[in-house]
Amino acid sequence: MSKTMHAIQMKAFGGPKAMELREVSVPEPGTGEARIKVAYVGMNPFDAMARAGKINFMPISFPFTPGLEHTGIVDAVGDGVDASLIGRRVISRANFGAYAEYSIAKAEVLLMLDDRIDLKVGCVYRGCSFTGWHALYKAGRLQSGETCLLHSAAGPIGIMAAQIAKSDGCTVIGLAGGDDKVSFAKTFGADHVFDYTQEGWVEQVKDATHGRGVDVIVDGNGGPNAASNIEVLAPLGRLVYIGATAGDMPGPVDISTLIFKNISVAGMNLAPIEDPPGSATDRTIIENVATGVWRVPVTEEVPLADVADLHHRLEHRQVHGRAVIRVGGDLT
Ligand SMILES: NC(=O)c1ccc[n+]([C@@H]2O[C@H](COP(=O)([O-])OP(=O)(O)OC[C@H]3O[C@@H](n4cnc5c(N)ncnc54)[C@H](OP(=O)(O)O)[C@@H]3O)[C@@H](O)[C@H]2O)c1
Repeated sequence: MSKTMHAIQMKAFGGPKAMELREVSVPEPGTGEARIKVAYVGMNPFDAMARAGKINFMPISFPFTPGLEHTGIVDAVGDGVDASLIGRRVISRANFGAYAEYSIAKAEVLLMLDDRIDLKVGCVYRGCSFTGWHALYKAGRLQSGETCLLHSAAGPIGIMAAQIAKSDGCTVIGLAGGDDKVSFAKTFGADHVFDYTQEGWVEQVKDATHGRGVDVIVDGNGGPNAASNIEVLAPLGRLVYIGATAGDMPGPVDISTLIFKNISVAGMNLAPIEDPPGSATDRTIIENVATGVWRVPVTEEVPLADVADLHHRLEHRQVHGRAVIRVGGDLT
């Protein structure tokens, strides 16, 4: 095996062009670690945020290699790790470093990829399905047959959440930016998708619910539209914030508004509340993905050398669903 590999490295935070493709040493797994021959990496907004120096909840040191959610095959293990892990198809999503032919992870956090799910879908499905599920059910307490409103409905979390809620007999309303994204989001089964970049989405949501409003909102965009969420919540409605891709975190909500309108506002951070591997949630998600009941929106595949262009397009809202970066590809 070659002692060097291709990897993206950054010397400092910056724009997409701060990522350089270099030839570097293949890393060795330390105690408790596994080395993964990387197959595919999902283009997660967290990678763009980390590249730009906007993440403060995960350690980053230089030279820095982005790449969070990825799949691959374990090819070496360090001391204290069961050697039977070598050759297994795994999902790794706990640390950066996957924009490279080999990555390193703590063996205990690796997830085994179900035999029925390919490596490309495997690097995408878990994060977006789990985030959508937990936002809807754990934070949003969605009930069968209720109505939910999903911001960023053409993004992977919005798309998976829409399919999850539809499977539960819910009415799904999506919001997306522009005609293309509205059309794309509709193909995943939402009952209505409105273009929030045009005037009038609040009235459209009210009309679609016959004036009642929605029971649950999941919003990962925040920004200037967030204040209008309050206007479209039904009595006893629950608003769940999961991020702020549009820039600013939503502002505070007056408690008298919560009382007067009978509504709740919540936040959801997946990692500390995530149902574990083997749980009913995990089994349900794997089954629906593996059997194609829920379609995972992998929309394009780009080589490692083109990752700067992909970051640029993501940051200019030009990516639908989830793009993946092909490193080793369909390894066997
Ligand atoms: N809380 C958690 O545990 C957790 C876990 C994972 C992800 N998240 C968050 O969930 C949200 C959705 O994640 P995702 O992976 O499904 O990504 P995503 O929604 O596909 O993110 C990209 C989309 O965000 C929208 N957007 C709005 N304002 C934007 C701006 N100023 N710049 C760029 N894009 C903008 C665009 O869609 P439109 O044009 O249609 O608006 C864009 O296509 C993100 O905020 C992410 O950080 C939270």
